Amino acid sequence: MRRNIVWEGADQLRYEIREIVGVARHLESMGIPMTYENIGDPIQKGEEMAPWIRDIVTNLASQSKSYAYTATEGDYKTRDFLADHVNRRGGCQITSDDLVFFNGLGDAVSTLFAFLKREARVIGPSPAYSTLSSAEAAHSGYEHTTYKLDPDNNWMPDLEDLENKVRYNDAIAGILLINPDNPTGAVYPKEVLLEIVDIARRYDLFVLSDETYASIVYPGAETCHLSEVIGEVPGIAMRSISKEYPWPGGRCGWIEIFNRQRDENFDRFIKTLIDAKRLEVCSTSLPQMSIPLVIGDPRYPEHLARRADKFSKRAVEAVDILNTIPGVKVNLPKGAFYLTVLMDKDRVADFRPLPMKPEIAAYLKPFMEGAPRDKQLVYNLLGGAGLCTVPLSGFCSDLPGFRVTLLENDDARRLAIWEKLKDSLSKMLG
Ligand SMILES: Cc1ncc(COP(=O)(O)O)c(C=O)c1O
Repeated sequence: MRRNIVWEGADQLRYEIREIVGVARHLESMGIPMTYENIGDPIQKGEEMAPWIRDIVTNLASQSKSYAYTATEGDYKTRDFLADHVNRRGGCQITSDDLVFFNGLGDAVSTLFAFLKREARVIGPSPAYSTLSSAEAAHSGYEHTTYKLDPDNNWMPDLEDLENKVRYNDAIAGILLINPDNPTGAVYPKEVLLEIVDIARRYDLFVLSDETYASIVYPGAETCHLSEVIGEVPGIAMRSISKEYPWPGGRCGWIEIFNRQRDENFDRFIKTLIDAKRLEVCSTSLPQMSIPLVIGDPRYPEHLARRADKFSKRAVEAVDILNTIPGVKVNLPKGAFYLTVLMDKDRVADFRPLPMKPEIAAYLKPFMEGAPRDKQLVYNLLGGAGLCTVPLSGFCSDLPGFRVTLLENDDARRLAIWEKLKDSLSKMLG
């Protein structure tokens, strides 16, 4: 090329959660039966869409209006419904103009970071969810900047680390949090959220809260929405129907904007996002239109409670088994549907590879050369046991570990996965 056409952020676009799938599929073609524990798609793992939700969607699909464009920011009726939903919590009050729809939160995240000034950084948690960390890193052209989640304190944010990084790095313009968290399953109590907002207030930052899993909080865990703690600080909450209906293939998510009018610069940034969306026209109509009908249905709270309870029981089942493996530590998740398996650093450094056919080992070798040790272990688990997980190093973390989901819907198959994981890890780390 006469001119270099490669964007500065190109090397930062990494999504380990899906990258490993290509390798796993190739191993399947080489005769290794594979169990996919990497992607957070409940439907793919056997959950049936609730019949009454399917009926609502089917009915919408039979109406011509569902095939039209919506307003750029999203369907008017749906945004009125959601604004009212937020306002009834009693925290920060919004109008339908403070809501903007995207084609899934993945789209919201890439738009948000694409139009954030390059020098303005958003500090996020480590371990980090890769869509967010990669988008932030790519927009800046540097590594994602992070604060620690503490595995010895149930993965709560290390607020001292967060404040120190904010204090000494004046490029930081925003704080990102994910509540409930992916990949740790941590749920932040209100006091923790208030402290994060207080840091944002004192250093004049905005708060970006990913609430994808806000409706999957396990019984007994206490938290709240950003709208209930944000006070007068500029903030954005990100919501999606992907994990809660669940309808991940609907590609439907939205942002809730708080206190836009209180900061001119923040207001201009939000206007940029809407102007950019206008160039795209709007997001897909039908999933948006289903929201007042599904979320407003009297059966929805019970539907959500049943799912949260189901994942809570699965979390206990997995943690009870996995925590018996020498050199392994798993914190009990309190929400979402993932858990992070932490492994002892020294044991991971010296892990014993599982036996595998020479042609499988030869295929995996280039993926493992020079890779972080937990990634090597995860790829060995892939070839040696047919278990597809995601290394923690793929989540912006230097703690050795990996993430699995709690999504397998077949009880016997799920138990067999935990037992196989236990057997394999005991051999590798023992
Ligand atoms: C924390 C988090 N944010 C955002 C997303 C993206 O969701 P969507 O399907 O709405 O793009 C995911 C998907 O796994 C997620 O885990």
